[in-house]
Amino acid sequence: MVQKVYVTRRVPEAGLTMVSKGCDAEIWEAETPVPRDVLLEKVADVEGLYCLLTEQVDEALLDAAPRLRVVSNYAVGYNNIDVAACTARGIPVGNTPGVLTDTTADFAFALLMSAARRVTEGVTYVQDGKWVTWGPKLLLGVDVYGATLGIVGFGRIGQAVARRARGFDMRVLAYDPYSVPQGLDPDLAQLVDLDTLLAESDFVSVHVPLTAETERFVGMREFAKMKPSAILINTARGPVVDPDALLSALVEGRIAGAALDVTEPEPLPFDHPLVTLPNCIVTPHIASASVATRNKMAVIAAENLLAGLEGSRLPHCVNPEVYGPRL
Ligand code: DGY
Repeated sequence: MVQKVYVTRRVPEAGLTMVSKGCDAEIWEAETPVPRDVLLEKVADVEGLYCLLTEQVDEALLDAAPRLRVVSNYAVGYNNIDVAACTARGIPVGNTPGVLTDTTADFAFALLMSAARRVTEGVTYVQDGKWVTWGPKLLLGVDVYGATLGIVGFGRIGQAVARRARGFDMRVLAYDPYSVPQGLDPDLAQLVDLDTLLAESDFVSVHVPLTAETERFVGMREFAKMKPSAILINTARGPVVDPDALLSALVEGRIAGAALDVTEPEPLPFDHPLVTLPNCIVTPHIASASVATRNKMAVIAAENLLAGLEGSRLPHCVNPEVYGPRL
């Protein structure tokens, strides 16, 4: 019998075609997230859920979906999913690691460059009709080449950012609150403790997943340790940075600037002070948004979903313990 799945947004066709061929798929067609009450209704008789980071997969959703056999998240991050609750019910959870590493690192670097060299301010300046002449002191920024970059979270994406920094002759410091990966190229970064990283970096780029331990990981204490000239870049998850502490740090000049692709909440209202401050750049969570990468993510999420439906191991499973010990 064809299995039923619910897809919570129209993802790239490459993934949708695979899903539609393999099962009886219903897709939420709007461009805004499916309302929670509708989602709870829709999952009542599905075996598979193909969802986005905008959907909370929690106990209430799992209770509403008694037939659910697989959850496939169209993202590498999975803080929107109660993984322990899924595991307890024997439900494997899939994500899309790897394919977005370089795309996200490119974007983190774009934010770093934009903040350092005041690119967005320059664009607004021209659009506002303020450009009347060349000026020796017009929109002066700071150099990226030769500066020190501190990378907080040295997993796949953090390391990809470090590789880019090499090309800019930057000194790279790295800290990981979990474990430092084995076999790292020692030239990639100097591994240091968090306080050293904060004190010595001109740019601090955050690449940790959002977990109970990393929520508000960068707050008052950390801003106080940073240089007044430092710029914070966040392409990880909004709640990793305390938004109130960040706002005070920017307003009071405890740090020089920030560039955020992720915020808390998301979306951030357009009149939020972090959006309107001249020394803060906010983009709408688009670090992985290249055509090629979003296509690949759609395919991987479809592969995870289909594997789960046929009872095979997911190619990218965040809770492999669901399968029991490997023999
Ligand atoms: C992810 O995959 O976790 C990103 O935040 C969205 O691509």
